[in-house]
Amino acid sequence: MKKILFVCLGNICRSPTAEGVMNKLLEEKNLSNRIECDSAGTSSVHSGELPDSRSIKHALKRGVSMNSRSRHFDKSVDFDKFDLILVMDKNNFRSIKNQDLNNIYSSKIRLMTDFCSSTKVDEVPDPYFSGDEGFETVLDILEDATEGLLKYLLNED
Ligand code: 4NP
Repeated sequence: MKKILFVCLGNICRSPTAEGVMNKLLEEKNLSNRIECDSAGTSSVHSGELPDSRSIKHALKRGVSMNSRSRHFDKSVDFDKFDLILVMDKNNFRSIKNQDLNNIYSSKIRLMTDFCSSTKVDEVPDPYFSGDEGFETVLDILEDATEGLLKYLLNED
């Protein structure tokens, strides 16, 4: 069983969406027993909250359901527990890297957009202050990235 963690700032928009999109893909391919997903935020401001209602609404239109509660990234647990930590943007990537004080976990920490193939972007943009199109863009990028991520994980076996 491989364990992967998706990380953004608040853990209410991008990373729970990534978790939901990946879980849907795994279910479709009957791989839910091989890869386990979770998500977390570098900020604890929204800890305990359900995903943003706009994220839920846009994800549902694509058959993706999300019901995880926001939690803060915990360096004392998460670095060891997860095989791969997929971060949504460069600020949060730096934040996670900075918590890896001795650079022990560098190879586990990746930008989610590294796994995109058709979308030419280098971050998943924060949709929190955007309109509907921001949430659709997040889903477009994540649908592309999760396909690439799954191929990567299966090739590693
Ligand atoms: P997320 O989006 O990092 O994708 O969950 C955000 C959620 C909340 C805030 C910013 C981004 N905020 O400023 O509260």
